[in-house]
Amino acid sequence: MTLLALDALSVGWPGRAPVLSGLSLQLDPGARVALIGPNGAGKSSLFHTIAGVLAPQAGALRLQGQPLLTGGFDPRIALVFQQAEDQLFCPTLAEDVAFGARNLGLPDAQVQARCAQALADCGLSGLEDRPVHHLSGGEKRRACIAGALVMRPELLLLDEPSGGLDLRNRRRLITLLAGLEHAMLIASHDLELVLELCPRVVLIDQGGIRADGPARAVLGDAALMEAHGQEVPPSLTRPRASPVQK
Ligand SMILES: Nc1ncnc2c1ncn2[C@@H]1O[C@H](COP(=O)(O)OP(=O)(O)OP(=O)(O)O)[C@@H](O)[C@H]1O
Ligand SMILES: [Mg+2]
Repeated sequence: MTLLALDALSVGWPGRAPVLSGLSLQLDPGARVALIGPNGAGKSSLFHTIAGVLAPQAGALRLQGQPLLTGGFDPRIALVFQQAEDQLFCPTLAEDVAFGARNLGLPDAQVQARCAQALADCGLSGLEDRPVHHLSGGEKRRACIAGALVMRPELLLLDEPSGGLDLRNRRRLITLLAGLEHAMLIASHDLELVLELCPRVVLIDQGGIRADGPARAVLGDAALMEAHGQEVPPSLTRPRASPVQK
């Protein structure tokens, strides 16, 4: 069964013209799909709509065949916000990461176990008692990802997950995400990360979907990428290494 189905969806902010309209998209269980497009194209707005934070202006959203409601807590979906400050709000890191698991009504021991696992997966063990506003930018980003992972959702929405991460933590994130079975939509300008993680890429610009296909076909299409303010990622333009001549 299709996991997520968006049907003729219009996405926008109250009192303003739609950012995206007539958008239709389907996601299979376990699929990893990248959402790319220029600044202001509507990636974050779409995520807010799927996560039920922003009401759709028109159209329908379904998860596992059921309509998605705005304003309700749906444990099957977890959103990692682009701006960590929009997500983190508890006094300490451990409380913040545990919040989603507590919200699921799990017993305390299970909340603690999931929290410890998510902190370890995100390289945050040892910082449990740190006030969230005393974390570095990259630590905050990883705290947000840990806070989503504790929920073990059917669908992870990751908005610029590698933003502000150093190379070691970016690599740790890619390895972590590659090993997860959850379906994910990843909005990112980090196209090399996209190539490593997502077999399918959806390009949005000027109010709608401009391309939806295999990652290498979309990201490797120089004319398409240029027309939408993107560049073919270097690993697709570099000539393949030729065998060393003896
Ligand atoms: N809270 C808000 N209230 C009103 N308009 C908003 C709000 N957030 C975003 N917008 C507008 O919606 C449009 C789409 O913005 P959005 O943040 O979805 O783009 P994006 O594709 O995520 O861009 P970026 O690559 O910069 O993250 C922009 O024109 C933006 O100004
Ligand atoms: Mg955004």
